[in-house]
Amino acid sequence: MADVLRWGLISTAKINDKLIQAMKGSKRHQLAAVASRNLDKSKVYAREKGINRAYGSYEELLADPDVDVVYNPLPNHLHAEWTIKAIQAGKHVLCEKPFVLTLEEMDAVEAAAREHGKVVQEAFMYRHHPQTLKVKEMLDQGVIGKVGMIRGVFTFLLEDPENVRLKPEWGGGSLWDVGVYPISYIRTMLGMEPEEVLCWQELGPTGVDVAFGGEMRFAGKLLAQFQSGFATTHYTSMEILGDKGSLQIPVPFGPGKSTSINLFLDRDPQKVDIKGMELYLGELDDMAECIWHGKTPRVTLDDTRRNTKVLLACLESANTGKAVRV
Ligand SMILES: NC(=O)c1ccc[n+]([C@@H]2O[C@H](COP(=O)([O-])OP(=O)(O)OC[C@H]3O[C@@H](n4cnc5c(N)ncnc54)[C@H](OP(=O)(O)O)[C@@H]3O)[C@@H](O)[C@H]2O)c1
Repeated sequence: MADVLRWGLISTAKINDKLIQAMKGSKRHQLAAVASRNLDKSKVYAREKGINRAYGSYEELLADPDVDVVYNPLPNHLHAEWTIKAIQAGKHVLCEKPFVLTLEEMDAVEAAAREHGKVVQEAFMYRHHPQTLKVKEMLDQGVIGKVGMIRGVFTFLLEDPENVRLKPEWGGGSLWDVGVYPISYIRTMLGMEPEEVLCWQELGPTGVDVAFGGEMRFAGKLLAQFQSGFATTHYTSMEILGDKGSLQIPVPFGPGKSTSINLFLDRDPQKVDIKGMELYLGELDDMAECIWHGKTPRVTLDDTRRNTKVLLACLESANTGKAVRV
């Protein structure tokens, strides 16, 4: 059994830096190759980042027998296409969020993963962090009692008019980009799916949503609320309200090596300190465990399918102005 996982990066996306940083501190992961649509760009990138091999097309990287697993950080509309190509080339795949933009794409990725027996996972880095696991454990232990409400937000100011996140045909918009986080967080913490959603959006000049908000109704008289946007400064937060207390998570999606959450019992705030980790290492290590030891991915394809269904219902609701059953 190999003890080093050899990663291939398809593209020189900015987000790669987070994974490269996480890999630096680990002996289990090795940056084997990078591919770009332009060979010169790829070579310069490889030199700068200390990557051994540089390719001038994604296809060449997929044909490299010394790449075990591919990281897919392409623009959203290319996620399914290149994840499937990588699987068909015999690679395991960690693919950025949003994993797919339609359920048809989801069907195709799942079919390819099943046919080729590969580990394929959506790169929701926050799901692997000790803070997220601690919040879930506290809820399961009933620390704040029966949960009745949960709400979350992820916004940042997007000022570059050329940014791929503003192209409607590329899966642009704040819901697909950052709304995915509070929706995934809500579903993960409650361990169930909403029955119905009712959403609103504000469209920007290119036709993508620059502000998105929604209400979700779950079984058991449980309500949730989320917001995402490109028109206000960077802000993230989650709050979970129970009948014995509540939890406030100030940095729910990007916690680091040390972090804290606030627990309110009988109105008294208590800071709960949590020993964290390098944020992006969790998803890499989870892939290694799945590939080497047959572990079930923390973010399963079924989980991703359910998240996608909710996202699509939210879009339908915002587009039609009506509540949509999930
Ligand atoms: N998990 C997280 O924390 C996190 C954070 C940020 C972004 N993301 C996700 O990561 C993905 C990439 O985001 P990013 O901000 O890193 O993107 P980016 O810097 O714009 O990179 C996207 C890359 O895709 C490649 N590409 C292929 N076809 C392209 C086309 N037609 N137009 C433009 N680029 C094309 C380009 O690489 P080459 O030129 O080298 O081929 C480009 O560098 C998105 O899906 C996003 O949702 C996740």
